[in-house]
Amino acid sequence: MKTLITGAGGQLGREIKSLIPDALTPAKDELDLRDPEEVYSYLLREKPDQIFNCGAMTDVDKCETERMDALKINALSPVAMARYASRFSSRLIHFSTDYVFDGGRGNYSEDDIPDPINYYGKSKLLGDFAILPVPNSIIIRTSGVFGNKMNFPLFVYRNLKEGREIRAIESFYSPISARNLARASVELNNMHFNGLINVSGERISRYEFAIKIAKHFNLDQNLVKRSTEISGGRARRPRDSSLCIEKAKKIILWDFHSAESNITYIGEI
Ligand SMILES: NC(=O)c1ccc[n+]([C@@H]2O[C@H](COP(=O)([O-])OP(=O)(O)OC[C@H]3O[C@@H](n4cnc5c(N)ncnc54)[C@H](OP(=O)(O)O)[C@@H]3O)[C@@H](O)[C@H]2O)c1
Repeated sequence: MKTLITGAGGQLGREIKSLIPDALTPAKDELDLRDPEEVYSYLLREKPDQIFNCGAMTDVDKCETERMDALKINALSPVAMARYASRFSSRLIHFSTDYVFDGGRGNYSEDDIPDPINYYGKSKLLGDFAILPVPNSIIIRTSGVFGNKMNFPLFVYRNLKEGREIRAIESFYSPISARNLARASVELNNMHFNGLINVSGERISRYEFAIKIAKHFNLDQNLVKRSTEISGGRARRPRDSSLCIEKAKKIILWDFHSAESNITYIGEI
């Protein structure tokens, strides 16, 4: 079984690679997702039996200004992968985002209709549309992935450890560690699950999550200050992009979702 992992240096890709060590993990200069035609040629050359597409342009503000790159990486390269997977009956495991929703309501299920409010969400949604018709494919929709690069939980942990005050907003999401997400994704693939599924943590506000991180690591929770400002960045952010994970909980029978199960990972990054 030949496996390809794109974006293997990213938060999620790195964890999937540790579960499938013999996978092909091309560097950016060997497989550039800004070049969908080259992606297709690469796939024809390498003929993987399964693809974990962890590569993406995930900088939400950058996607707003560098739209052509966002479109190519998040949507058009997935089209190339979908074309290959359909033609050669390869499995395709793709990752989507809670940012396909406008964040007006939260707790979004697999049946809710996306309505993105920023270009990252739009480009990712186009990618989802490309993968949906592929017979042997999974679209794993997730939220607040945290791993080896700077992210909100790590920012909270490192600052509190140094005794610095931080501000956390009262916006909701469903954070999950890259390790739990990787394990759940590989498991779903091994059981030949097909279709769209939400895999994330439990719904929580960033403020509450910061407090839980402080408590877990015995850090001073008084350093966590509430903020109402949603973003200083260029792109708009959804206020509540949390995902409903009831479907995944029936299929994945270990605790991938609780805050506790995910927070422990922060101390190991
Ligand atoms: N992070 C989150 O909070 C979050 C939330 C919801 C959904 N997701 C989705 O989950 C998946 C994994 O996210 P992640 O957090 O692991 O992202 P990440 O850490 O940003 O990793 C993305 C990977 O893609 C690579 N990449 C970017 N542009 C590329 C290009 N032109 N050619 C080849 N590779 C390229 C990056 O390489 P460089 O680092 O060298 O650029 C990086 O290795 C993505 O589909 C993302 O949309 C993430």
